[in-house]
Amino acid sequence: MGKDRERIYYINFPPILGEEEKREVMEVLDSKILVRTYGTKAFKLEGELSNYFNVKHVITCNSGTSALHLALAALDIGPGDEVIVPPIGFITSSTSVLYQNAIPIFADVDEYGMLDPEDIRRKLSDKTRAIIVVHLMGHAAQMDAIMEIAKEHSLYLIEDAAQAIGARYKGRLLGTLGDVGCFSLHQSKVITSGEGGFVITDTDRLAEKIYSISNFGRPFGIPHAYSYVYMGYNYRIPEVSAAIALAQMKGINKFIAARKRNAAYLTERLSNLEDKGIRLLKAPPWSDSVWWTYILTLEAELKVSIQEFISLLFKKGVGAMAFDRPDNLQEFYLEKKIYPHCLCPFSCPYYGREVDYKTMCPKAEKLLKDRVGIPGCEPHLNKEDLDYIISAIKDVVEKYNR
Ligand SMILES: Cc1ncc(COP(=O)(O)O)c(C=O)c1O
Repeated sequence: MGKDRERIYYINFPPILGEEEKREVMEVLDSKILVRTYGTKAFKLEGELSNYFNVKHVITCNSGTSALHLALAALDIGPGDEVIVPPIGFITSSTSVLYQNAIPIFADVDEYGMLDPEDIRRKLSDKTRAIIVVHLMGHAAQMDAIMEIAKEHSLYLIEDAAQAIGARYKGRLLGTLGDVGCFSLHQSKVITSGEGGFVITDTDRLAEKIYSISNFGRPFGIPHAYSYVYMGYNYRIPEVSAAIALAQMKGINKFIAARKRNAAYLTERLSNLEDKGIRLLKAPPWSDSVWWTYILTLEAELKVSIQEFISLLFKKGVGAMAFDRPDNLQEFYLEKKIYPHCLCPFSCPYYGREVDYKTMCPKAEKLLKDRVGIPGCEPHLNKEDLDYIISAIKDVVEKYNR
């Protein structure tokens, strides 16, 4: 093994940063303007993103999590409301609903691990106000059916496209199909600012409110005011972060092309494992995917536990990842315990219902039990890296498929 053991690939990979990023950051440092209120970089980034998505409004913020919270706050989601969310995605795709003291209701998943429209219908109630759809692993969810439900029941549709910047549903960029699109610029994402995020919308009133709430609730257009039109937060992106993302926008098409190329290579080279107990997650037919993380499913015929599979890969220097459990089974959901002294918001008199998270999503539970995320899609990995990852996986499969 020797040299090979040093080749450890983790899931959160180094982004591709170059001279353009350095130049942009140096400009900010030289200007001595580090906050967006006085600077130009966040403003320019919003312009670039708005061209890219062809939307009227982009509001940058300091994480994908704050993007989700801003969307929910601006849509007036609050105590007593239910929001349909998926059980697989990221924890803040549902806890952002709790930030507003509203109740996340988990709908179960389809074969791709994304919201199943049929189960959304089953989970609707007279308290449902919105749906948060997560486009998982760079793939598009079943948007036609989900948009139809939202329209039929007058629900807001929030797209969490944190993992899917640049992916498309039937030709349309994800994030532009719902009322609001939320994105993360975390270091692992398609483009990055280190930590960061943004919200997109075509609705003027909503955009102004999101901007205002992200800036302490100060009135839109008066960023320095000491009077406040909403209860807000400081969710502003720092100028240095915005400068990095601005430079990353120049590489976005290249990064996406590399992700697609790498995923196609993995699919081609791993497909002969499909009759040896490994199933590959393919892109849904409606999705032009940007391949955030490559997913394998271990079938029962492969006589190895998921922990052992991961640990054997790790010994070979390949950092794969299991997903543990769906979010509805996290302890604080099961116990409905967020605050130490009370069961708010679950016991909120505005809500007045009982919610039981334990059996909400049996399909998601089953799906996650055998799923592994492997490195490989990330654009900094070259063919030699991919060949190494592929041969490590093949070694482990050969050992256990006898
Ligand atoms: C689907 C999804 N939603 C939301 C987030 C939160 O983004 P951030 O880490 O920028 O807060 C992530 C981050 O990994 C994510 O993958």
